[in-house]
Amino acid sequence: MPKENIVKESLPKHIAIIMDGNGRWAKNKGAARIFGHRNAVAAVRDATEGCAELGVDYLTLYAFSTENWGRPAEEVMGLMELLVATIKQELKTLQKNNVKLAAIGDIEALPKRCKKQLREAIELTKNNSGLTLVLALSYSGRWEIIEAIKRLAVDVKEDKLKLDDISSEVFETYLNTANMPDPELMIRTSGEMRISNFLLWQLAYTEIYFTDKLWPDFRRQDLNEAIIAYQNRERRFGRISEQVNT
Ligand code: IPE
Ligand code: IPE
Ligand code: MG
Repeated sequence: MPKENIVKESLPKHIAIIMDGNGRWAKNKGAARIFGHRNAVAAVRDATEGCAELGVDYLTLYAFSTENWGRPAEEVMGLMELLVATIKQELKTLQKNNVKLAAIGDIEALPKRCKKQLREAIELTKNNSGLTLVLALSYSGRWEIIEAIKRLAVDVKEDKLKLDDISSEVFETYLNTANMPDPELMIRTSGEMRISNFLLWQLAYTEIYFTDKLWPDFRRQDLNEAIIAYQNRERRFGRISEQVNT
């Protein structure tokens, strides 16, 4: 789908992607799973550049879930090494495209080298004013909500927050995504139709787009197709069609 078909005025401000299917992509080629993860980097680069060029404000990529720690140690290690190498290698592209890097999730749980590389890249790109690329690492929606509740409970206990003042808006300020708009569009590749513990709070009214493409094959034409599909949806937020169209 060419990007000319995208209506600039109704571009999503925030797109979230569950990048799925790397393992199957490798298996189809008779290769080890890590080969799929390595080939996922090109898709990340293309989606990031695509979003940056279109003028999307936030792109959140689900790169490693809390549950993914349970995979075979060899794959987990391979993914962590790939993460360090990729951030290092892609820094130039981020700078060239004016992209600001951010992360959500239990960053403390990552190996030392990953944390260091990630923090450096976040620091080096902090003044970029284009797309914010958010990596969800050691992330899960339930983890994020529990962390938010713990910090909120402390504030109530210490009288910094009154029970009656707790609202959706206040709660959101305790989430990792504080100050970010909710995604209008969430894409999942590889044909799986589930949320897998991604942005549980934030996806409440997100339009969800599923594609059978495996993540390493995903390119900006696929991104454009998803955005056009999103632009043809009617977002009613609980109301009826006639109300939304007047
Ligand atoms: C997504 O691809 C990448 C991560 C979860 C890290 P998978 O590794 O889940 O690939 P499939 O789903 O097994 O094909
Ligand atoms: C979701 O994919 C997590 C990421 C893409 C990082 P999974 O492949 O881990 O999800 P399930 O296990 O199929 O639900
Ligand atoms: Mg998967």
